Formats: sequence, structure tokens, C-alpha cells
Amino acid sequence: MSKAGRLVVLVSGSGTNLQALLDASADPSYGARVVAVGADREGIEGLARAARAGVPTFVEKLRDHPTRADWDRAIAARIASYEPELVVSAGFMKILGAPTLDAFPVLNTHPALLPSFPGAHGVRDALAHGVKVTGCTVMLADAGVDSGPIVAQEVVRVLADDDEAVLHERIKTVERRLLVEIVGRMAREGWTVSGRTVRIGNQPGGGST
Ligand code: GAR
Repeated sequence: MSKAGRLVVLVSGSGTNLQALLDASADPSYGARVVAVGADREGIEGLARAARAGVPTFVEKLRDHPTRADWDRAIAARIASYEPELVVSAGFMKILGAPTLDAFPVLNTHPALLPSFPGAHGVRDALAHGVKVTGCTVMLADAGVDSGPIVAQEVVRVLADDDEAVLHERIKTVERRLLVEIVGRMAREGWTVSGRTVRIGNQPGGGST
């Protein structure tokens, strides 16, 4: 049974999911706290949110490394220096490599109902397909693109006038609540993975959402 008190959160943009985790972890009974925030670029609101919360930050840019494998090792070392029990990829727009995935459990959040519409444009792709419902998925990361074991999902209805920005904002409102709920439960109750089944807590048949 794994537990997740110390979180390193990775971001690439506005960091509203990060903010939700920072807000939740202000209450000690939440069971987890953000010990560092990492990014693959500078000048983003996600890093500013961490700084305002007094949380240490680091930036590891791909272009500062001769190869992807070097970047993979470098970001894993930066993450490891904060001794996290769980890494949360919250709008981090890079696939993490083996050095991170082999060392830490990584939770990822995605704005679509996987396995439909993986990748960087989940909302745009779902709209383009004409789906009537979409949503968000919280999953454990593996070496693929949004292909790891699913921890939790919630449905969001697509409305007739939705464009990508409007729909994404509605998804993110649900996504932030779901991510906070799942990270907190993983921290407090622990979790196990068996094949593609993730179970939070140890009650028989319970815990997985
Ligand atoms: C979130 O909707 C997250 O699911 C998505 O980026 C957004 C980040 O928002 N991630 C992906 O699309 C990854 N495939 P935020 O920066 O405001 O938290």
C-alpha cells in the first residue's frame, strides 16, 4: 500500500489545478502537501502561484539538454531532491521518461474521458469528433501518452455553443475538484495497483472511483 504525503507538482501553464492542491493542503487534515513545483518553462503563472504560496520551484527546459534522455535524468534528479511520495503532473505538457516513472508514482490529469482523445488537445479533439459528453480523467502515468491505469473519471456534458475555451473551463472546474479529492484520498488511505485496476484504501471492493 503506497501513501502520498509529500507532493511534487509539475506544471506547464496557468496552474489552476496546482492552486487547488495548494489551497486544499493548507488544511493539515488534507494529508498531503506540495513540497515543490517543477516546470519545463519559465514565466508561467503556475510558477508564480507556487512562489506566492512559498513553495520552492525548479525549471528544467528540454532545450538546455543535449538529448531527451539527458533531460529525463535531469528532471528526475530535481524531483528526487524533494523526496516526494507522489508526483502530480497537473497540466505538464511533457511525457516523463523512465528515470522519473521508475522512481516515483506519477498521477496525471487529462481533460477528456480516456482512452478517448489522449494527447495535448483532448478538448479540441473531443469537440471536433462531435461527442455529446466528455469529461476528465485522473490516471497513473506510464510510458505512453495518457495510457496508464485510470484512477477516477467524471463526465461533463458538451453544450451546443461550446468552443474549446468554454468547454475546457467547464471541464477544469470539475477536474480541479476531482484531482483534489483523489490526491487527498490517496494520501490518507493509500492505494494499490493490480494490472489496470487502481484501488484507493484497503476496503474490499471499495475505494476505486
Ligand atoms: C488541465 O485541463 C489538464 O488536464 C490539461 O491541461 C490543463 C492545465 O490547466 N492537461 C493536458 O491536456 C495534458 N494532456 P491548469 O494549468 O490551469 O491546471
